[in-house]
Amino acid sequence: MSGDAPLLSFDGVSVVLGGREIVSPSSFEVGRGQFVCIVGPSGCGKTTLLRAASGLAQVSAGAVRYKGKPMDGPTREVAFVFQDYGRALLPWRTVDGNVRLALEAARVPAAEHAGRIAEVLAKVGLSQHLHKHPVQLSGGMQQRLQIARCLAQRPEVLMMDEPFAALDALTRRSLQDECARLVREQGLTVLFVTHDLEEAIYLGDRVIALQANPGPGRPSIARIIDVDIPQPRDQLSTKEHPRYLHLRRELYEFIEGGHD
Ligand SMILES: Nc1ncnc2c1ncn2[C@@H]1O[C@H](COP(=O)(O)OP(=O)(O)OP(=O)(O)O)[C@@H](O)[C@H]1O
Ligand SMILES: [Mg+2]
Repeated sequence: MSGDAPLLSFDGVSVVLGGREIVSPSSFEVGRGQFVCIVGPSGCGKTTLLRAASGLAQVSAGAVRYKGKPMDGPTREVAFVFQDYGRALLPWRTVDGNVRLALEAARVPAAEHAGRIAEVLAKVGLSQHLHKHPVQLSGGMQQRLQIARCLAQRPEVLMMDEPFAALDALTRRSLQDECARLVREQGLTVLFVTHDLEEAIYLGDRVIALQANPGPGRPSIARIIDVDIPQPRDQLSTKEHPRYLHLRRELYEFIEGGHD
């Protein structure tokens, strides 16, 4: 693979579930280190597309390629952060035990566990909570724990399915910033699903807008927008940046106004 080849590519991918085409032929590429957000109305196939990108859902036509090779199942290089952290974490295991799960699954030698766990918990600010159980943590802390568990598997790609949707606005903003910082520090590539257009523009290098019921033979992807706003971003100045305001208006008008 040449240095310029995309890390992940969708080439005419469709997904049929229960006899219905949930994702219609979709093509796009994700470069190494890019943060790509996917937006669209409920039920338009965002989660299904993310699952296909992770090798968790079988494609019915076209191909998902990862590092130039067909993606034919889940790989440890791709970690999945679920919206529902409550169900993603094991309630009977402590913070330490939940992160250890990823290391056990990856068959990391036990002698390395403590060091690796300390490293990822420090990254998400949970070092002081090693022996707590998920029920003793706030929603934001539980989602940080899920992210720590994903980081412990040392992935190249993070797939995030509405990871902050269940959090209050303040926690959500601070997790957005933590997530953006971590992703940059680790050089991760991210595919991030959200309902929130502002979140998508704030975090993304690119935003892919999907439409519900595109019609027979029409692609699910309605629009791809490059977010040409400087990095790193911050909650105040980025959201006052003329490009941010312009893209927000463009995306709102496009999504709210119907587009065909
Ligand atoms: N395993 C399945 N079998 C049949 N239909 C499915 C299956 N999984 C999802 N669907 C259907 O596919 C459509 C898209 O689902 P998906 O979960 O991908 O949407 P979404 O855009 O993530 O929605 P939301 O924003 O509500 O999370 C829905 O109509 C859903 O009912
Ligand atoms: Mg979904």
